Amino acid sequence: MNRLHLSLLVAALAAVSARAADDIVLADFEGKDYGNWKTTGEAFGPGPAQGTLPRQMKVSGYLGHGLVNSFYGGDKSTGTLTSPEFKIERHYISFLIGGGGWTGKTCMNLLVDGRAVRSATGPNVVPGGSEALGPASWDVSEFPGKTAQIQIVDNATGGWGHISVDQIVLTDKKPPKLLADQTREFAIEKHYLNLPVKNGAPKRKMAVLVDGKPAREFNIELADAAPDWWAPLDVRAFRGKRVTLCVNQLPEDSSGLKAIEQGDTLKGAENLYHEKYRPQFHFTPRRGWTNDPNGLCYYKGQYHLFFQANPYGVKWDNMHWGHAVSRDLIHWTETDMALYPDDLGVCFSGSGVVDHHNTTGFQNGKDAPIVCIFTSMGEQHGAQSLCYSTDAGKSWRNYDKNPVLGNLTPGNRDPKVIWHEPTKKWVMALYLSQDKKSDKPPMYALFGSPDLKAWTKLCEIEPPKCGECPDLFELPVDGDAKNTRWVFWGGNGNYYVGRFDGTTFKPESGIQCFIASHSFYYASQSWSDIPASDGRRIQIAWMSGGQYPDMPFNQQMSFPRELTLRTTPDGIQMFCNPVREIEKLHGKARTWTNAALKPDEDLLAGVSGELFDIRAEIDPGSAKQIAFDLRGVKVCYDTAAKKLSCGKASAPLEPVNGRIRLQLLLDRTSLEVFADDGLITLNDCFVPDDANRSLALTADGGEAKVVSMKVFELRSAWK
Ligand code: FRU
Repeated sequence: MNRLHLSLLVAALAAVSARAADDIVLADFEGKDYGNWKTTGEAFGPGPAQGTLPRQMKVSGYLGHGLVNSFYGGDKSTGTLTSPEFKIERHYISFLIGGGGWTGKTCMNLLVDGRAVRSATGPNVVPGGSEALGPASWDVSEFPGKTAQIQIVDNATGGWGHISVDQIVLTDKKPPKLLADQTREFAIEKHYLNLPVKNGAPKRKMAVLVDGKPAREFNIELADAAPDWWAPLDVRAFRGKRVTLCVNQLPEDSSGLKAIEQGDTLKGAENLYHEKYRPQFHFTPRRGWTNDPNGLCYYKGQYHLFFQANPYGVKWDNMHWGHAVSRDLIHWTETDMALYPDDLGVCFSGSGVVDHHNTTGFQNGKDAPIVCIFTSMGEQHGAQSLCYSTDAGKSWRNYDKNPVLGNLTPGNRDPKVIWHEPTKKWVMALYLSQDKKSDKPPMYALFGSPDLKAWTKLCEIEPPKCGECPDLFELPVDGDAKNTRWVFWGGNGNYYVGRFDGTTFKPESGIQCFIASHSFYYASQSWSDIPASDGRRIQIAWMSGGQYPDMPFNQQMSFPRELTLRTTPDGIQMFCNPVREIEKLHGKARTWTNAALKPDEDLLAGVSGELFDIRAEIDPGSAKQIAFDLRGVKVCYDTAAKKLSCGKASAPLEPVNGRIRLQLLLDRTSLEVFADDGLITLNDCFVPDDANRSLALTADGGEAKVVSMKVFELRSAWK
């Protein structure tokens, strides 16, 4: 609390008798320093933290910008923070608290006459968990008028050895009583426990205790009353057992725990895949949040798509790996969660490979093991682990000697593994770190392994303007199998073309930019093990940042794209095009050939709908601008600036032989644009306007010619 806040407090205290019902904000920690509060030790830093501290999981649930956060210097630092004396002039003290749950060690105490008469801790004592602060309160009506102090203590140095506190208020309004731990028992007979979720409700910690031990632990915005949606908690593994569900800090009158139902289907999913803002041919999870695609591999006719998942909320949290399979990259069947957080932490991104030579020794039947390599993000701040399937991807188990590559740098993550046939070993590309305060490029490294378990460092790569989720693959140039290059790929779509001899990657070009700025395309990854007879390199990405109001899911994947390297006047460059399987969804087609596009004419007048694949070759002629308007979402070509734009994204586009070529994939909440046969790609995510289903193609300021155009209506992949 700074001086201003302190004087406000003094003034408020003086006014207490006059206006007894007003709350007194004892501290909101919005100042630059702690004011008259006194610190000892290092843990509390020079003043309130402005949210999350370096190397800390995201802190949420505090008010304003500042809070007490004793993660200063990490978990190992210790100290105390003590308030000046104040008078207890209200019945209650309410506050927000989070961090470690170590009684007496990571706690906030109320001192009366120098003695702790009340104490509270954060909720966490096991790895994983959440840095969210939650509301708590003390009834202090037995100490009227007493002089007291608040003392915040961090005397713990191991995991969750820190505490966070904000918004300490003296109040007469009875805060809802939060029950420490409420439990409910279930004899598990069905597939799911359907949990009621209210988006934006306080985050609570839920644990599933099996035989008295926590088998699952996660944060959930549990609905205290009517839910927005139901989150399925897969409990098949516990069938026939009695499990105890334990939630902390539930208000007394909450129906959250009582409402939980056992069932063999997702509750409230009658309209599954047909919800108002559900993409119809882009992958989305049935329920909850997704970000990066993970573990992409192909085995026995099935494409496996794993994805970063929060099954219990529509925001990023509780990272699990969801799983879906498809035979054609169009129709996806979501299966149960493949990977759950464990003692090593939550499951960050990674990759998947088929271990055809059984180098891991995991094989125990006719199927080659499918192995996923992922980041366990816990106390160690990132270590690389394995999980595997020996039944063609139906069930998954963690390797019992995880991690296989311990922590190297804080935050190292996102292993992408490939089989390097010439040197007969596995190669892992790993994101190591980035000093965001300097101009230095991020650091990645390659590692080699005979068996996916023992890894040795091969080389380091520092590609400028890259971040997170690497990929590494070989592609023929212009389709010539004898002339190949290797591509090192950063999570944001910037890439190097170069050579890789099994030990060192040598870029032959500068860093190239693949994705137009402001596009929704991140953490892209390509499929492993696509058979040589197919030979494609297929990539998918998280269309990061779209909005899906009031939906029980959040975020979508891009449509899968085929990557090719081609020689251009600017050297060897990456091209991408939607996979040809899109044609499976083609419905009615309309065709135009050599059609004049005059100002004030609309070539698509009368065409309406919501799902389309549009392919056009246009001679801009004398037009100043050519614009597609697809349900209000615009794709414009500015002929003078030679610039193509889509939503906020834009990129230079040079006509080839006087023509621009475009392919547009319009889904219910996204539009992907591929220009010049895939040299340029940009996209937009949008919330569609119910009232507008029309398409338009117009030219401004002169006449253009539509050399050829095909507009295919698309069927939903969910029908
Ligand atoms: C990229 C990323 C990865 C990380 C994952 C966590 O979007 O930040 O680096 O593994 O998301 O969900």
